[in-house]
Amino acid sequence: MQLLLATHNRGKRREWLPLLAGLDIELLLPDDLGLTDEIAETGTTYRENALIKARALAALSGLPALADDSGLEVDALEGAPGVYSARYHLGDDAVRYRALLKALADVPEGARGARFRCLAALVLPDGREFLTEGVCEGVIAFEPCGEAGFGYDPVFYMPERGVTMAQLSAEEKNRISHRARAAQQMCEVLVRELGVRREEGRE
Ligand code: IMP
Repeated sequence: MQLLLATHNRGKRREWLPLLAGLDIELLLPDDLGLTDEIAETGTTYRENALIKARALAALSGLPALADDSGLEVDALEGAPGVYSARYHLGDDAVRYRALLKALADVPEGARGARFRCLAALVLPDGREFLTEGVCEGVIAFEPCGEAGFGYDPVFYMPERGVTMAQLSAEEKNRISHRARAAQQMCEVLVRELGVRREEGRE
């Protein structure tokens, strides 16, 4: 079976590919089909945006399409930037996480709770739609630390591990992240609903 991974974000793509690698599917990217236009995320929820992207790419390609929408929810900012995480500030990832650190400069250690959330949407050519969700809890650090990952990873600290998300290897992040949790459930959906087989020697 062919499956289109409906994302242009390189960081997310790098993480999704191994998350789906245990399944007997041929994974295609929009570029492989000449679908280079970004799909505008006009929704106001992760769910809407994930569905907008997956529906658009399924319609354009005629293939099952999988998209995710994700973000960082900061308690001290009443859940912001949330669905607008990619657009929190003009500039690159470092500009955005530095703006976040600045906004939280006076917030004490005990009030810096945050979580990453990921909504994954699978849209089939016959119109069926499936959604899964994953969450990863942490706190916003006072300083960035670590080089791995992307986005807000350098400032997302996980007290029980004593490291930021950007200090984890790609394999470790892919065991515990919000995206990994949504992906594990999506793998179940692909196996259960579409009869996709798991490849030998993989979980
Ligand atoms: P979107 O899902 O393409 O709308 O982008 C979500 C935005 O949330 C990303 O551009 C990042 O800023 C942030 N984000 C989502 N997942 C992660 C992650 O795993 N690490 C760090 N930042 C993330």
